[in-house]
Amino acid sequence: MSDSSSKPVLVTCGLPYANGKAHIGHLRTYVPADIFARSLRKEGREVTFVCGSDTHGTPIVVNAEELGIPPKELVEVYHKHFDETFKQLGVYFDAFGTTDDPENHHRTMQIVNRLIEKNYVYPKIIEIAYCPKCNRFLPDRYVEGACPYCGETARGDECDQGCGKHLEPGELKNPVCTICGGPAEYRQQEHFFFKLSEFSDFLLNYLSNDLGGTSNAINYALGWVKQGLTDWCITRNLEWGVQFPGHEDLVVYVWVDAPIGYMAFTEEWAAKTGNSWEKFWKGDGEIVHFIGGDITYHHCIFWPAMLKGADYSVPTAVVASGMVKIEDRKFSKTRGYVVWVGEDYLDHGFHPDLLRYYLASYTSHTKELNFSWRVLQEKINTELVAVFGNFLYRTMLFAFKNYGEVPEGKLEPEVSAEIEKALKEIKAAMAEYEFKKAVDSAMTLASFGNIYFQSHEPWKLLKEDRAACGHVLYNCLHLAKALSIIFEPVLPLTMETAWKGLGQESDIHAVQYEEALVPLKSGTKLAKPELLFTKLEDDKIGEMEEIANQRVKAADAKKNAAKGKGKEPAKSDGMGPAEEAKPAEKAADAAITEEKGQIETLPMVEYEDFAKLDLRVGKVLLAEPVKKSKKLLRLEVDIGEAKPRQLVAGMSSYYTPEELIGKNIVVLTNLKPAKLCGVESNGMMLAADDGGAIVAALMPDKDLKPGSKIR
Ligand code: 2FM
Ligand code: ZN
Repeated sequence: MSDSSSKPVLVTCGLPYANGKAHIGHLRTYVPADIFARSLRKEGREVTFVCGSDTHGTPIVVNAEELGIPPKELVEVYHKHFDETFKQLGVYFDAFGTTDDPENHHRTMQIVNRLIEKNYVYPKIIEIAYCPKCNRFLPDRYVEGACPYCGETARGDECDQGCGKHLEPGELKNPVCTICGGPAEYRQQEHFFFKLSEFSDFLLNYLSNDLGGTSNAINYALGWVKQGLTDWCITRNLEWGVQFPGHEDLVVYVWVDAPIGYMAFTEEWAAKTGNSWEKFWKGDGEIVHFIGGDITYHHCIFWPAMLKGADYSVPTAVVASGMVKIEDRKFSKTRGYVVWVGEDYLDHGFHPDLLRYYLASYTSHTKELNFSWRVLQEKINTELVAVFGNFLYRTMLFAFKNYGEVPEGKLEPEVSAEIEKALKEIKAAMAEYEFKKAVDSAMTLASFGNIYFQSHEPWKLLKEDRAACGHVLYNCLHLAKALSIIFEPVLPLTMETAWKGLGQESDIHAVQYEEALVPLKSGTKLAKPELLFTKLEDDKIGEMEEIANQRVKAADAKKNAAKGKGKEPAKSDGMGPAEEAKPAEKAADAAITEEKGQIETLPMVEYEDFAKLDLRVGKVLLAEPVKKSKKLLRLEVDIGEAKPRQLVAGMSSYYTPEELIGKNIVVLTNLKPAKLCGVESNGMMLAADDGGAIVAALMPDKDLKPGSKIR
């Protein structure tokens, strides 16, 4: 985008589906978008940053159905989760709505009605997959089959494992119902189509001349338009979603109301702040969409065509991020190559800014990003700690100890020239969505700071010429101030602390880049500096690698145990990495679901094998939390032996100790002992979970004697 424009800018991020937890794949889009929005503000631009949860669509309905809860309940859980996670990561939206908000229902209806009025929507009888056994039509993920273009296994609306093409209802070969696994058939039904093909000329021109953003997005989209566009079925047989006007049995396809969410959230922000949403959507304010590369088609083709057809402004830029790999392996939840933002990162005490730094500086935004714990360690220790942190700390500590305030001094032209150079490079890099380049320039300025400090030897000057030493320190402190401003978009939380440490009272988030050249005021009181970045130690990283390894092993074991399932349909969550299998995670703790509606079957066992399990009734005599563990309880259970058995069970989230004491439970008594969090478990308490948030201990419904055998 142009860095000389003064128009207001709306920055948006692809909406996360509210049916799974946040992982690093999501952050690859959101963190750079947040950096971009913050940086534009620092350039003095008026920025509005909106996002929200994508709450409609078949996957959500499928998951809610499997859980036996209304979709609304499911999406509320994840909406809250994403909202909180983004805030923890310093990703601050001006509005974070949901596509089920009344504003979005209203705006979607208005747009669809407008498209209907303008004759861009027409009815057509088409073949829709229908399951005779379940007695229902099968939209999108309710059906799977072979892709008509490449032959790979595909789901109803997208060839997610093969060629990646968007599929229209009726196109899949050999459709199979994903609810019951039985064969589906095609039945005729009336649906509504958007005349996408009429927008070919508009799109060719728009993509070639007007749309900014990253070339990966624009070039792909141009290629697709050149291949020819087919009209797009925009209705679905679902009850959850935005109703298609005049048809109670139909909702609009999720990809209609999801991007309209960008507009609705702008409206929500405008209503909240007394601003105008029209300046973006009806005026010439800029609109910049940050998305994962896999939803380019929707943002560069469907969306601008819809906007154009309904007489709204079209996006100025689409910025598409590259894929995410985990430890050099393809991102895959089912194979265990995933890093959850909460349980794998924040819950282990890692600072959010470290991850932001990694995501921004690992590679160019459009390239593949590999997340590796060792690389994180290396980057943090050798860059943030050894270069930037070192400069800030040594400068601030030296000045605080020996002066207690910003000493007298004058900003050296050599220093201001370096700052100016960095600012120029950073603004240019941001305008090209090259976040790595921007971070590299900021880091070069930090290295300059270290060299400046080192070469002027203030520790020697202090003894010989206190004023000269003060002058050097003044320049170092000014550099620290400039660096705090420059790094704020990437490291907003730590730079807040640095800013205060420099005695600054203003809000660093509102301070503009230009302030980096305004000489620091001598006499400003300094605070005792804090160590802003600390080394990531080998032990800690080893621990994280072990957790990751265990996850992959568990996934392998699960896969091997599942017999005869044969296929693993892929799924993209839209935030970058295309990933495998499974409709989504379920409920708050988001256990990964079994394949849609099917229960994983384990191999048949002989009775002799079953008989090897010594299952007995046990009475819980004692239950208490295991220290240092959030999940584990230590139990002492009477299983009819002379002494009670000690068991360790992951039950803390589901039962209080009091709820278990005195109860009869089922214990596998001849499981090999294992140590959990340092406590030995001599057996296993049995419980059932439905793949969701409900976990129930198995308890016989009569008061049996402890030790009673279960057979
Ligand atoms: O692919 C996805 O994850 C979608 N939830 C993204 C929607 S972005 C927009 F169009 F709303
Ligand atoms: Zn069926």
